Amino acid sequence: MKIAIVMGTRPEIIKLAPIIKKLPKSSSTVIFTGQHYDYEMSLQFINQLGIQNLDYKIKLTKLQNTTTDRATQIGEMMIKLAKIFTKINPDTVVVQGDTNTVLSSAISSIKCSIPVSHVEAGLRSYDWRMPEEHNRVAVDHISEFLFAPTKLNKTILTKENVHGKIFVTGNTSIDAVCENIKNVEKTKTISDDFDDFVLLTLHRGENVDDKNILSGIINGLINSNTKIVFPLHPRTLKKLKLFGLFSKITNSKNITILPPVGYFDMLYLMRKCNLIVSDSGGIQEESTAPPIRKKVLVLRTSTERIEAVETGFAEMIGVNSSKIASSIRKNFNNPLKLSKNPYGSGKTSKKIIEILKKKI
Ligand code: UD1
Ligand code: UDP
Repeated sequence: MKIAIVMGTRPEIIKLAPIIKKLPKSSSTVIFTGQHYDYEMSLQFINQLGIQNLDYKIKLTKLQNTTTDRATQIGEMMIKLAKIFTKINPDTVVVQGDTNTVLSSAISSIKCSIPVSHVEAGLRSYDWRMPEEHNRVAVDHISEFLFAPTKLNKTILTKENVHGKIFVTGNTSIDAVCENIKNVEKTKTISDDFDDFVLLTLHRGENVDDKNILSGIINGLINSNTKIVFPLHPRTLKKLKLFGLFSKITNSKNITILPPVGYFDMLYLMRKCNLIVSDSGGIQEESTAPPIRKKVLVLRTSTERIEAVETGFAEMIGVNSSKIASSIRKNFNNPLKLSKNPYGSGKTSKKIIEILKKKI
């Protein structure tokens, strides 16, 4: 079995690491597209999570404008990946999630006659503003093996009549939490001073690329009058500065900005905080993991992770300023009512490898 695994952004590295580390180095080729290029968004995770066999590291032309350069970047990745796939000729190319890296890899792979394996298949937000939704739909329909985290994801794929075979496996994000939580205490670099706080992340294009929406979110967070710790995604930092909103946060009494933090620090913050407020996909899953079990207020109007909402781990609060402030205040001291975590028990990577071994 010869497997190529492609990853390009922070969440892909985190969620593919459990698979990469269980595969023999001799039968796997790991390719990094460089979609995320800052150390804090890429190499930091590759190093921390112990991915030692990074076989190819692509260098991409830097985007000047996320919207108009998107197609160019996808094209560039496809051309560079096709050269690598042709050279190594794997039995399958494994991709995870819904990023531009995933779309580029899947198209390149199928056009090189190599079957695509899609980890985290069948998620749908039905929100066509999201580039991620375009990517998910396209990749699911050209994949040969679809690893659906939940039964609901399988139902969605079956209804869409996808071409490939579907397997319900859970989500590797839970494996990542379970496998790394034991390292937190000895490796964390965050000070112990943060107590009674909300952990915030924010990066989705629909939220940060629109000045009015971003400004409303920031106002809601400030008006919550609750202590907030905010590891800042580089896209959000750029937009806050562009829209003249950065000083509003630095002048606020309740929000502390951090650079994007490493995975162990993130696990530490997730475990220690009272509440999470986020528009992240991965964090909605990780919050359900047995070692975390925290409520996430989701700064979005749609979600492709309905299971997290149905089990009470996530609540969609949208982007209205006063709703954000009141929801934070309401949930801050309310412990989560216990419910079953929907994304598996941390054995997803093992299941996926066993299926691939049988099928290819
Ligand atoms: C991408 C994914 C998104 C995922 C997120 C994880 C797509 C369409 N989006 O969004 O699904 O949730 O990664 O974080 O693939 N930037 C930097 N340094 C970096 C990376 C990005 O400064 O290391 C800035 C650049 O200005 C860049 C912008 O962020 O143009 C957007 O980066 P991009 O990778 O296109 O999208 P993300 O918002 O990171
Ligand atoms: N994460 C991290 N440091 C941060 C912010 C997020 O390690 O400063 C982790 C988080 O725990 C999760 C993943 O990055 O595993 C989520 O990435 P992101 O929110 O950027 O992308 P999404 O999941 O929305 O695609």
